Amino acid sequence: MPKRVLTTESGAPVADNQNSATAGAGGPLLIQDQHLLEKLARFNRERIPERVVHARGSGAYGYFEVTDDVTGFTHADFLNTVGKRTEVFLRFSTVADNLGGADAVRDPRGFALKFYTEEGNYDLVGNNTPVFFIKDPLKFPDFIHSQKRDPFTGKQEPENVWDFWAHAPEATHQITWLMGDRGIPASYRHMNGYGSHTYQWTNEQGEAFFVKYHFKTNQGIRSLSSEQAAEIAGKDPNSHQTDLLQAIERGVNPSWTLYVQVMPAAEAADYQFNPFDLTKVWPHKDYPLQRVGRLVLDRNPDNVFAEVEQAAFSPNNFVPGIGPSPDKMLQGRLFAYADAHRYRLGVNHTQLAVNAPKATTADNYGRDGLMAANAYARSRKNYEPNSFDGPAETGRALSAPLAISGYTGTHEAPAHAKDDDFYQAGELYRLMSEEEKGRLVANIAGGLSQVSRDDIVEKNLAHFHAADADYGKRVEEAVRALRED
Ligand code: HEM
Repeated sequence: MPKRVLTTESGAPVADNQNSATAGAGGPLLIQDQHLLEKLARFNRERIPERVVHARGSGAYGYFEVTDDVTGFTHADFLNTVGKRTEVFLRFSTVADNLGGADAVRDPRGFALKFYTEEGNYDLVGNNTPVFFIKDPLKFPDFIHSQKRDPFTGKQEPENVWDFWAHAPEATHQITWLMGDRGIPASYRHMNGYGSHTYQWTNEQGEAFFVKYHFKTNQGIRSLSSEQAAEIAGKDPNSHQTDLLQAIERGVNPSWTLYVQVMPAAEAADYQFNPFDLTKVWPHKDYPLQRVGRLVLDRNPDNVFAEVEQAAFSPNNFVPGIGPSPDKMLQGRLFAYADAHRYRLGVNHTQLAVNAPKATTADNYGRDGLMAANAYARSRKNYEPNSFDGPAETGRALSAPLAISGYTGTHEAPAHAKDDDFYQAGELYRLMSEEEKGRLVANIAGGLSQVSRDDIVEKNLAHFHAADADYGKRVEEAVRALRED
């Protein structure tokens, strides 16, 4: 007998794992061969639906350590003491391509962080960009359709990408970011992470603040040119995964310093930009970065499928002291993620080890459903209120209420004094060095010149002209030169 016996799923020993059972030596297979049937059937079921966006990703565990006192702004338990450490899991990703794409591509990167706090899991599901392409969730499915593979050609089409952007002037800021030098990170370790949205913090006194999160890489920013990326993507499509895995295996643990911008809630209404518009940043001179702590990744997952593919992050997993702002995009996301998880992983995905709370336990009256793994003590009641000491509400809101006014309706987001779709894109362009401007223009022209329709090209050019006269002129010249070739 071998030391460890190979068994079927139900634990029975397997006699032969090399030859299927047949009727006679040269005969057909027998349906009584449980091991063969089970093995083939199980194999057919190995894949689950990939994420509809951010399908390709890499993950790692680590910790977050508070380095600075932020108790004046939030009573979040995991942030309440300098030196306090909280276990985290971070999943990085690319956005647009399917699971079988490449890592080294021009695309935003996801930066999804789960803090396993003593008051529940806090998910901060951000990107490596401080802004985004659109500001209303109603546009998200159309936007993503334009970026992913075309239903007829089966590949990503510059025509679709730029046609969507022709109709989305608010994307000009993020396009300027994406086509610039930071548009292709050299690895997941060499980029920043941003919460991107504005969130709300509440302190012990009930005072509300609006905050933006910035995770600055301590490895330094490193990026690839379009040419370098094309070569790397061909040689090792998993270049980011290779880099992260090997760095952590070698003990070279990547880290980020977390800063926040903090706006007292009362200042939001009159700020020069709508603080809840995801296509805008808050200039640091208005709201300087304040250091909060350090994020370190020091452990690779043991199993990529179980822990990375099945990881589920949801922007509506808040903890006391932290809540949403009225940003419409964020509000849309509060619905979208848990819904996606219920479809992709099932209603009991919160019981999987990577998703379940680690520093506390979930205690509620939710029950049963497909693949329920949790067994409950016999005496536990499955209704509330009850007279048997079941878990009960605290009566304390997680975050301060948001002020509202006006009527229901399909409103555009309110415009503040300096709000338009182009000003901040122009500011970003003007910040760039001459060389970076040149690379930005070449990257834009490389894509835009592949569009066949003049009207789509013209609409896009108008956006760059509106951002900055020089920016518009240079993109226009570069596109014309390439289209005439
Ligand atoms: C209304 C706009 C948006 C909608 C409806 C949306 C929806 C989704 C959905 C359905 C997924 C797949 C979830 C899964 O299957 O596990 C996803 C993944 C993701 N989204 Fe969004 N998204 C939006 C905007 C954003 C923005 C603005 C950011 C960043 C600031 C972002 C960051 C991410 C990340 C990082 C992931 C991957 C999470 C992971 O690693 O599992 N998304 N999004």
